[in-house]
Amino acid sequence: MQRTDLNSLFDKAIVNVNGNLTTPQNAQISVFDRGFLYGDSIYEVTFSDSRSVVFLEEHLDRLENSAALIGLPLFYSRAEIKTEILKTLKQSNLDRTYIRIIVTRGDGNITLDPLECKNNNLVIIVRPLEPYPQNWYQEGVSLCFVSIIRNDRKSVDPNAKSGNYLNNVLAIKEAKERGYFDALMINKDGLVTEGTTFNIWIVKNNTFITPHLNSGLLKGITRTKLLEICREKNLKFEESELTPSDFLDADEVFLTSSTKGMVPVNKVDSKEFDVNSFKNFQMLKGLYQELIDSIKSNEDYRY
Ligand SMILES: Cc1ncc(COP(=O)(O)O)c(C=O)c1O
Repeated sequence: MQRTDLNSLFDKAIVNVNGNLTTPQNAQISVFDRGFLYGDSIYEVTFSDSRSVVFLEEHLDRLENSAALIGLPLFYSRAEIKTEILKTLKQSNLDRTYIRIIVTRGDGNITLDPLECKNNNLVIIVRPLEPYPQNWYQEGVSLCFVSIIRNDRKSVDPNAKSGNYLNNVLAIKEAKERGYFDALMINKDGLVTEGTTFNIWIVKNNTFITPHLNSGLLKGITRTKLLEICREKNLKFEESELTPSDFLDADEVFLTSSTKGMVPVNKVDSKEFDVNSFKNFQMLKGLYQELIDSIKSNEDYRY
């Protein structure tokens, strides 16, 4: 059996399993873990820059909200989770890292009943965050609307960042097979929600517009921060019900996520965009970078 070479994939990574620091090769959880068996888990992804964790409190808030949305009891306190994250980062001795925090509903008998679980498995993965390819940011990336629809809010609520991403895996698979960088998903009513691991925005007549949370999507931390910047700087913005045709009509399109930041989109389905003309996008990107730079000095999140 051929296995992915973890040595090359996770060179310099550190894994924390329930408080124990180890290497990726030696990191283990039980095969009876419900995250492994059912995707019965929640997670967060953020990053550190200049040895400071970016928006840590906001990510922990969302972790707690995800737990509440799927009724997953947290047996680790917020302070304990924070301590473990900073401990892992310190051990990594890396300046700029990708940070993944996973909490599962724990080990159980092989039965769906979640009430039996009396523990969590807490896994924190820290690895170097290499810059993404420059051409994503200079030339933009392509997206297409796929046939897979985003989970309904009455199913696994997309606002819970759960470990059950199979829907999104199928969406990106379809997009890649069609030759696109990634996928956009609509909901059952035909409204645009988000991408597989990112929120989506258009600019129309100098107004920043992103799908309303009611359409069923993850409340991205980057999305929230950009809306706050728009509010503070008196930039025009809307959270709206958007349809795919709004994208064909847009002046600018971009995606946002914690680790990717803000990435311009050069194509949605067959409609192409000239990313060099994205003036509003560039302006907001500059303001977002200023925000990231300004929080690096916060001692609470340094390691
Ligand atoms: C489905 C989905 N939407 C949006 C986002 C962007 O969220 P954030 O800005 O908090 O990284 C993510 C991030 O991983 C995601 O998985």
